[in-house]
Amino acid sequence: MLKKDFPIFKNNPWLVFLDSAASSQKPKYVIDGVSEFVASSYANIHRGAYSLSEKSEELYEASKKKVAELLNVKSSEIIYSYNANYAINLIAQSLCKSQFLGRGDVVLIGIRDHHANIVPRQSLSTEYWFSIKFINMRSDYTIDRQDFAKKYDKKVKVVACSHVSNVTGGIYDVEKIKQHLRPDTFFLVDGSQSVPNFPVDVAKIGCDCMVFTAHKMLAYTGVGVAYLQKDWIKKLQPLISGGGAIADVDMERYTTNGTAEKFEAGTPNIIGAVSVLKALEYIQKIGGMKKLREHDQEITRYALEKFHTLEKAKKLELIGPYDPAKRVGVFSFTLPRQKNNTLIGETFAAKNICIRCGGHCAYPLHKFLRKAGTCRMSLYLYNDKDDIDAFFKVLEKIVK
Ligand SMILES: Cc1ncc(COP(=O)(O)O)c(C=O)c1O
Repeated sequence: MLKKDFPIFKNNPWLVFLDSAASSQKPKYVIDGVSEFVASSYANIHRGAYSLSEKSEELYEASKKKVAELLNVKSSEIIYSYNANYAINLIAQSLCKSQFLGRGDVVLIGIRDHHANIVPRQSLSTEYWFSIKFINMRSDYTIDRQDFAKKYDKKVKVVACSHVSNVTGGIYDVEKIKQHLRPDTFFLVDGSQSVPNFPVDVAKIGCDCMVFTAHKMLAYTGVGVAYLQKDWIKKLQPLISGGGAIADVDMERYTTNGTAEKFEAGTPNIIGAVSVLKALEYIQKIGGMKKLREHDQEITRYALEKFHTLEKAKKLELIGPYDPAKRVGVFSFTLPRQKNNTLIGETFAAKNICIRCGGHCAYPLHKFLRKAGTCRMSLYLYNDKDDIDAFFKVLEKIVK
C-alpha cells in the first residue's frame, strides 16, 4: 500500500484521487527531499565558486543523469524546460529557426495527440509556410498504418506523435513507426503519458527527440524534459538565448557552447530538477518502473472488467482498448443517457472522487470520434482496487 507514502491522503482521508493523468500526487520522500535541499544546500548553479553552488549543481546534474538512465540515453542529451508544452515548442521552433523545416514541407502528427503537439505546429505553420497532416487512428485505437503510408511522402520532414494517448490510454508502437521513417525525418515522441507509466527505452525506439512532463511522475510542476539526440543538439539553433547558454559574447555577436545548456538560457528550475531526482529515487526504492507497470496492469485489468460489464449492458462507451497490455490506466468514457459531462464530474466530486470531464486538450480527437467531450478517470501507483470500487459504485448509480 503506497498511499501511506503520500501526505495528501493523510490530509484528506476521504479522497479518491483518479486524475493522475492530469498531474500526480507527490510522495513525502519528494516533499522532504526538496525541503531539505532548499533548507540546507540551495544556491544558483553554474560557476558559483563556493560549495553551496557546487552542491546545487551536483544535484541538478544528478537529476539529469537519473532521467538519462530512465530513458537509456546520455545525460548530455537531456534538456530541461518548464513542461511538455514548452519542450515541444522549444524543439518545434528550433527546427524552423535552424531552417530544417520551412516552405512547402509537411509535419505529420497524430489525430489523437494532445494540443501540446498540435497547436505549436499550427502557430508556426503560418509563419514558416509548412503544412500539417494528421495521421488517423483505427477503430481499435491503433495507428492507421495505411493512412500513414499514404501521407508519409517526400515532403514530410517531421513526424511527431504521442506514445500514449491522454484520452484513450492506448499505446502506439513508436518503435515500429520509426522503422518506416527515412533517416532524414525528424521523429519526436511525446512521452508525457508513457514515461510515467512503463519502462521507455529511447535508444531502442530510436527517436530523435522524446519529451515528457515531470509533474505527472511524482515531481513538482515546472520541469519539462526533452531528450534530443546529440547530433541535433549540435545542429539546432535554440529558440531562446541569453545568459548561461553561450560560449562567448562580444559587442557584435555571440557563440553557443554546443551542449544541451544552450537550450536552457537563464536560471533553470533548480528546485524542480531536485524534485525530479527525488521522484526517480522514490520510484527506484519501490521497485522501479517494471514494478510500477505491474501495478498499473493489475489495477487496469480490474477496472477494465468493470467497464466491460457496463459497456455490455449498453450503459457506457469506453473510448480505448480493452487489452491491458496495449494501454495504461487512463480511461475515458461517455454515457449514452447522460450527455452532461460536467454534471457527471460534479456527481463524482460530491463523493470526494476526482475525475476530469471535457476535451482533455485533445479536441481534434474528440471531433474525429464525434464526441463533444468525455469523462476521464486515471490511475497511478497509489491507487488500489478500493478506489476503483468507489468509482464504480457512483458510476453504477449514475447509469441507473
Ligand atoms: C500526452 C500529453 N502531452 C502533453 C501534455 C502537456 O503537459 P504539460 O501541461 O505539463 O505541458 C499532456 C498533459 O496532459 C499530455 O497528456
